[in-house]
Amino acid sequence: MLRTHTCGELRKPAVGQTVTVCGWVDTRRDYGGLLFIDLRDRYGKTQIVFDASEGANALALASTLRSEDVISVTGRVVARSDKDVNPKLSTGEIDVRAADLTILNKSKPVPFEPGTTNIPNEEMRLEYRFLDLRRPRLQELVQFRHKFTKLVRDYFDEHGFLDVETPMLGRSSPEGARDYLVPSRVHPGSFYALPQSPQIYKQILMVAGYDRYMQIARCFRDEDLRADRQPEFTQIDVEMAFVRREDIIRTIDGLVQVMMRQLKGKEIQLPLPQLTHREAMEKYGSDKPDLRFGMEIQDLAGEVANCGFGVFKNVLGSGGRVRGVCAAGAAPKYSRKDIDGLTEFVKEYKAQGLAFFRVTDTGLDSPIAKFFNPDEQQAIKAKFQANAGDLIFIVADKPKVTSAALGALRSRLGRELQLFNPEDVHVAWVLDFPLFNWNEEENRWDAEHHPFCDPVPEDVHFFETDPGQIRAQSYDMVVNGYEAASGSVRIHDPVVQQKVFDLLGISAEQAEERFSFLLQALRYGAPPHAGIALGLDRWVMLLTGCDNIRDVIAFPKTQRAMDLLSGAPSEVDAKQLRDLHIKIDEAAK
Ligand code: AMO
Ligand code: AMP
Repeated sequence: MLRTHTCGELRKPAVGQTVTVCGWVDTRRDYGGLLFIDLRDRYGKTQIVFDASEGANALALASTLRSEDVISVTGRVVARSDKDVNPKLSTGEIDVRAADLTILNKSKPVPFEPGTTNIPNEEMRLEYRFLDLRRPRLQELVQFRHKFTKLVRDYFDEHGFLDVETPMLGRSSPEGARDYLVPSRVHPGSFYALPQSPQIYKQILMVAGYDRYMQIARCFRDEDLRADRQPEFTQIDVEMAFVRREDIIRTIDGLVQVMMRQLKGKEIQLPLPQLTHREAMEKYGSDKPDLRFGMEIQDLAGEVANCGFGVFKNVLGSGGRVRGVCAAGAAPKYSRKDIDGLTEFVKEYKAQGLAFFRVTDTGLDSPIAKFFNPDEQQAIKAKFQANAGDLIFIVADKPKVTSAALGALRSRLGRELQLFNPEDVHVAWVLDFPLFNWNEEENRWDAEHHPFCDPVPEDVHFFETDPGQIRAQSYDMVVNGYEAASGSVRIHDPVVQQKVFDLLGISAEQAEERFSFLLQALRYGAPPHAGIALGLDRWVMLLTGCDNIRDVIAFPKTQRAMDLLSGAPSEVDAKQLRDLHIKIDEAAK
């Protein structure tokens, strides 16, 4: 070893020892004849003192040092005087007085100093990721992620799960996003797909008799990126055989309890709260509600049925809904202009408009209040249990639009009004998603999750009459308004599987062509099985209070799916393309 101690290790009992420490020059203070350096590594910082009496050569060399040079220092550990003790630093009681200094590597002038709290723009951070990763916050996050992953593996190991790897080069599994394709050299014109998830393989493992499977699996999806989405990400992928939905829920509840205990020091009660998809949409307008605060959506059909406001009456008359939320105490905080801003915001969710009422002692105040008689005003107030100073927002529209607009508005108001403690981590289950979703643009049914979810048995009769009513035996885990896990009981009966394919417009021949390996397996003794996948990156992000998934991934990609550090994706040379039998359409560049 080139060092005897790390930069975070030395304490008072070491005083008097001669030690060697290595690291990066964090800060340098030169008083002429006396020079201080904070030396940094991922364990912490140690203050090094250079002076002529201890080592004149070392002092001379130290005066040439710049930020981020890598050095090795040998010297004596001394106690700091009481007034110089730095309680903020773990090594703040001691200094190392340098006798010897070796420069291991000079650094070019850095575009930003990782030791300071000034955070450069993200492009710069990603381009110089090796510097960015030296920042203490990122080092903390990388270490947290390691601990998290280890805890997950230990938990599943203790519960008898086997970690099985599944292929990266496979056939596409239909999870809804676009595949990343890899051309085959050996089979001209054929492609592998990188897995969007190990879904089909884990189901086949169940058929193969490995009744408890887990994998920390890399997944690849070519989709639009957001703050909580990466083109390659990691799942905690789980599948179990001979189980019901409750068994998966209990297993994951247990995992969450251990995570919260060991990583957040919080004891949580099990079972975790559960709500149905219908309830979530009704109360929060979202299938991934932020449950750190209330502000539930109310339906006002009864209260406004006979009011004089044409918009509401027309909407109710044409099968729409009138629903709203009440922001307690918000009336003085939102000016007319602010409310215009919120109106524009709900329009992004296709709402036609946003009605509002400022609640007063006597009734409601608003440009449209005149259309509501005193009884109606009181009834609206009562519905929200509103008090003077509250601000009520109402959207009248198609049922789905009221959910989308009010769900988004609720989240925004919750954030703006700081209705929750940002440190809170609220975990809950959303159950019974619909099996199918009507795709209005393409006039067909889509699978809400994927085509392998088992329907709730008592809903199967809706296949012929009203497929939108069929509930899936599915479950999502929501954390602070994010979808943090998703899974379902799988179909293990080929007849039901074909019914689902039929509805999705996938013929028996097409199904055979695309998923023959799964369908084949289901015909050779398939046990009932169920599973789930947790978004590992999202969990780490939520547990560490980050709002950007890129901060918890050592080498992430940008919103435009670029790796700025390596410059991927990049062009390749003509020979590589020839080997792969690929010609580039130059016009597309
Ligand atoms: P799903 O597609 O819902 O389910 O993915 C499971 C979980 O993975 C996380 N996730 C992502 N995280 C970061 N970036 C992305 N692009 C991204 N996409 C998804 C989410 C999500 O809840 N095979 C099924 C699971 C199953 O049924 O067992 C699946 O992949 O947290
Ligand atoms: P208008 O009648 O279009 O002038 O609208 C009067 C008020 O009602 C404005 O504040 C609109 O934003 C609001 N409004 C219009 N349409 C709707 C709707 N569909 N739902 C809720 N509020 C609406």
